Amino acid sequence: MKEKKMWWKEAVIYQIYPRSFSDSDGDGIGDLNGITSRLPYLEKLGVDVIWLSPVYQSPNDDNGYDISDYRAIMKDFGTMEDFDRMLAEAHARGIRIVMDLVVNHTSDEHAWFVESRKSKDNPFRDYYIWKEPRDGKEPNNWQSCFSGSAWQLDEATGMYYLHCFSKKQPDLNWENPKVRDEVFDMMDWWCRKGIDGFRMDVISMISKDPAYPDGPVTDGIYGDLGPYVCNGPHVHEYLQEMNRRVLSRYDLLTVGEAAGVTTDEARKYANAEGTELNMVFQFEHTDGVAGEDHVIGKWTVGKPSMPVIREILNRWEDALEGKAWNSLYWDNHDQPRAVSRYGNDAPEWRVLSAKMLATCLHMMKGTPYIYQGEELGMTNTHFTSLEDCRDIEEINAYNQYVVEHKMVDGALMLKCFDTVARDNARTPMQWDASPNAGFTTGTPWIPVNPNYTQINAEAALADPDSVFYYYQKLIALRHEYPVIVYGVFKARMMDSEAVYAYERELDGQLLTVACNWTDQPQPCTLIDERLSKGGRELISNYKEHETGILQPYEARVIL
Ligand code: GLC
Repeated sequence: MKEKKMWWKEAVIYQIYPRSFSDSDGDGIGDLNGITSRLPYLEKLGVDVIWLSPVYQSPNDDNGYDISDYRAIMKDFGTMEDFDRMLAEAHARGIRIVMDLVVNHTSDEHAWFVESRKSKDNPFRDYYIWKEPRDGKEPNNWQSCFSGSAWQLDEATGMYYLHCFSKKQPDLNWENPKVRDEVFDMMDWWCRKGIDGFRMDVISMISKDPAYPDGPVTDGIYGDLGPYVCNGPHVHEYLQEMNRRVLSRYDLLTVGEAAGVTTDEARKYANAEGTELNMVFQFEHTDGVAGEDHVIGKWTVGKPSMPVIREILNRWEDALEGKAWNSLYWDNHDQPRAVSRYGNDAPEWRVLSAKMLATCLHMMKGTPYIYQGEELGMTNTHFTSLEDCRDIEEINAYNQYVVEHKMVDGALMLKCFDTVARDNARTPMQWDASPNAGFTTGTPWIPVNPNYTQINAEAALADPDSVFYYYQKLIALRHEYPVIVYGVFKARMMDSEAVYAYERELDGQLLTVACNWTDQPQPCTLIDERLSKGGRELISNYKEHETGILQPYEARVIL
């Protein structure tokens, strides 16, 4: 089937975590005016779209993923006028803005929940998921994604409400048509403002198994809610309704964050007929690869192996071909830094391996996402104590596994944080070598990674061989060559433990990609074969090459 051309298939997206991007007023927290002031930087990079993590009013239990008013801007981030100016200036530069849509849950401070908890017959009661106690305790054994029970007893009525995340993030009841009306109206309101799409937070979790059964106990304490809240019985129906009532009426980019999604499910969410979403984020190659040194839950000190990652990504490429559209990412605000996790952040390999990973991902079929600082090769940070942590997920996990249940040693848990904690992605954007990396003139809400004196945007812009200019080139190539966007994917060298290679093919044109994921030279003849038949090099992270070999972390692309 010939692929239908769409702007969002040809685009490269840049994710901004506003809290950590750029602070214009010295309060230590990034803001909208900070983003507006950095638009020339993003224009220079060449990205087409910004995905903004939530900027709505929020008490910040989970940094804005707990929304108390969907139509107001968080005070720390500025005003609605600031938003409108940012949107207009982005549009003037040809950059679209995609909003984060967090509607699996609200904040417990949202007016709907304030009403809902008042009494059993409150008109807003059914906006949320309330259950009677079971034997005087929680209705089932589910663990919330942020540790502890997923149920919270509310004294006012003696009933429990469901919160798949923190207890300040009660889950909305999507079975209630009034909830869907409210959400769709709100989305429409933002669309009319002129935004360009939605990244939908944990959208695969909006329909729950009505039986609310106990989940399998995996770590000896609670049961896993995943099988009963992900890809539930009505999720596709709700998204089709959303599509009919809102999405199809505008020209939007839509990407669903789809915890627990399989390729079969993705073919429904992101179906080529366009009845639901454009694409989804899957988690098999990130949260799904704890590596060898797995500790507990998502926590690990291990490194995932390339063949495992390759098997996953190639399977997604093949399964969605002609049927649905992939999203491509290594990094986001919930993941450690890619160069530290999959590459090698030692000084001698950091730049090379960051460019190799970028090549490997950006030449695949799908829409690539870049997370702020990834284009600088920003690295994980180091946690010396719980005091260094800001993220509710880390803090709660430490309290549950180390303090309360004594299942994990504290020092080991901190090592897990160094490896996979979300705060690794949330340290401030490193703009220059001045105090606090030029992120703020005040005290940053989370400490800056001390390596900012070497790794920062100013230094990158002054160095023609920087990771920044490499990303700039990858983006430009995608814009120039349709084979990079629309070419059919074909895996190569599947028996290599070290080289990730593949081809893309469109209208008789062949693109060949080979990436060495190790710090040792590795045999590879694929590239030389192509060169001997007249292929030419589009991009590489090395200037000099060797025949029959890929040098450490070498990446080559031949057309
Ligand atoms: C998503 C967000 C994450 C947030 C969670 C709850 O996974 O990406 O940051 O904590 O949903 O909203």
